[in-house]
Amino acid sequence: MEKSKNSSRCCVYPGSFDPFTIGHHDVLERAIAMFDLVYVSVLNNAIKHPVFSVEERVDMIQRMVDAEGMKNVVVTSFDGLLVDYAHAVGARYVVRGLRATMDFEYEFQITALNLHLAPDVETVYFMARPEHSFLSSSAIREIGSMSGDITGLVPDSIHNIIAERLRKP
Ligand code: PNS
Repeated sequence: MEKSKNSSRCCVYPGSFDPFTIGHHDVLERAIAMFDLVYVSVLNNAIKHPVFSVEERVDMIQRMVDAEGMKNVVVTSFDGLLVDYAHAVGARYVVRGLRATMDFEYEFQITALNLHLAPDVETVYFMARPEHSFLSSSAIREIGSMSGDITGLVPDSIHNIIAERLRKP
C-alpha cells in the first residue's frame, strides 16, 4: 500500500465497525476535519466472530464515503498489530472515539500498549457526543436482528444494506 506523503497529518481510524454506526460516522467527520488523510481500517480478526464479513464492512463504509462525497478517506482492512499497520501506511496518529465511562479502561490499556510498542504513534480521542453515548454496534445488531427500526442509528446511506443483512437469520 502506498505510504502517505505527509505522514504528520495522516491517521488511522481502526475498529471492528460491525456495523458502522452514526457514532463512528461522527468520529470520522471530525477526523476528516483535523487530518489530511484518514484511513478507516477494519480489523480482520476471526476471533471476534463478526456478523458482517470484512469485505462487507469495507464495502459498506466505502459506499457511505462515496455517497457522501467524503474527501481524503481511504477504506481498508488490516491484520496484525495496529501500530505495524500505522507504520506501513505512514500514519503517526490513531483516532478512536470515547463514550462516557464504558470505553475508558479498555482504551487506556490499548493506548498504553500501543505506546509501548511504538512510541512514535500517538492515539487521539474524540469524545462521543452525548446523543451517541448509548450507541454500540452490538445494540444495533440486536435491534436489527429482531427487525427493530435502526433508522437514525446507522448512516442513512447504508441503512438499507445493514437492516436487510441483520434480518437474515
Ligand atoms: O472497534 P473495536 O473492536 O473496539 O476496535 C479494536 C481495535 C481494532 C482498535 C483493536 O482490537 C486493535 O487495535 N487490534 C489490533 C491488534 C493490536 O494491535 N493489538 C495490540 C493492542 S491491544
